[in-house]
Amino acid sequence: MANHNRPVETGRYLVTGGAGFIGANFVHLLMERYPQAKVTVLDKLTYAGNPKNLDPVRDKAGFRFVQGDISDESLVTPLIAEGFDFVINFAAETHVDRSIGDPASFVTTDVFGVYRLLEAVKAHPVSLFVQISTDEVYGEVMEGASTEEAPLMPRNPYAASKAGGDRLAYSYYATYGIPVVVTRCSNNYGPYQYPEKLMPLFITNAIDDEPLPVYGSGKNTRDWIHVRDHAAAILTICGADGVEGEIYNIGADTEKNVLEVADRLLHHTGKPASLLKQVVDRPGHDRRYQVDWTKLNRATGWKPEVEFEAGVQQTVEWYQAHEDWWRPLKSGEFLDYYKKNYKFLPEEKGK
Ligand code: NAD
Ligand code: DAU
Repeated sequence: MANHNRPVETGRYLVTGGAGFIGANFVHLLMERYPQAKVTVLDKLTYAGNPKNLDPVRDKAGFRFVQGDISDESLVTPLIAEGFDFVINFAAETHVDRSIGDPASFVTTDVFGVYRLLEAVKAHPVSLFVQISTDEVYGEVMEGASTEEAPLMPRNPYAASKAGGDRLAYSYYATYGIPVVVTRCSNNYGPYQYPEKLMPLFITNAIDDEPLPVYGSGKNTRDWIHVRDHAAAILTICGADGVEGEIYNIGADTEKNVLEVADRLLHHTGKPASLLKQVVDRPGHDRRYQVDWTKLNRATGWKPEVEFEAGVQQTVEWYQAHEDWWRPLKSGEFLDYYKKNYKFLPEEKGK
């Protein structure tokens, strides 16, 4: 259902975290679908932010990039005072393993940064503030699927910080009437994903015949959604009626464990299963997430379109064709982090 009071096609969008994986894919889709939209990306360019992710839109009319921190009031308030119809907050520290080693930046960006944005839109109203949350706020779900009413039980510092930002955003709706909507999506995959996350790490390691580090048993499952389906869901919500104050789960009903995902990646890269190596498990590793996204489907008709096998094949092909994008990222700081985080276990005899 289109909302005729919100100018989705010609509106002014502030996309925070737009130089990251999902934010960039969202901006690509937005500018492709609505060439008349005016899009400002605000991004701090942390290790995970990459200006190259915006190359496909950089020269389009209506696009602008601002480098800066969502926690910086002196930047955020005057920027939002310029006037926006939509603020879509993708900006976050996002890697669970890093949050275990060093939670401080997660609390700062994923909670305090959200507060700064909310204060700015309180002073300078917008038509819609979209807080991009995550299915991790529900904690591990051993069976069934979490609806939006399920209790929040985040179990790692990333998920807990995201739950803080998620509820803080809702509180600005309940308390001040700010038009906030919160989305909770499952695990995204696709082009431009920083190669520390499961799929891009395994694809790029496989290309280089390096080991694929499997945490624990490899039986932990996630619901895998193509990033373009996530981006399309957010765009649909921007144009839908009655979403203010609501939470929407976004998922794809494609539950796969790490070994199942690895099997498809090895198949599409043409590499052997002997590359799989067990490493010491992630502390507090959530066994399973699954969201029920019926509410969004009923409200807007949105549903995921990219089938898993085809999406994974396209993703592998993208990394094979874009070594110039990922090779520079797998150096320096990344290698230090990788050495520190991964403890390979001795192979069992006879294997
Ligand atoms: P990412 O790590 O690839 O990108 C995050 C972006 O935010 C980067 O460009 C980074 O530079 C920027 N950023 C970080 N701190 C900032 C700050 N203080 N100010 C401004 N910019 C800052 O992450 P992603 O995977 O694209 O995730 C985007 C959003 O989606 C996050 O909010 C994440 O919690 C959420 N999410 C991710 C997934 C997933 O599977 N990746 C699933 C559900 C929800
Ligand atoms: O569920 C949504 C969340 O998905 C997002 O909110 C997070 O920002 C995003 O990072 C992602 O979190 P996960 O922890 O699920 O993703 P990650 O790619 O780190 O891990 C996916 C699974 O793969 C998980 O069970 C851990 C496992 N894994 C991961 C890595 C990086 C391994 O076995 N080996 C690895 O090297």
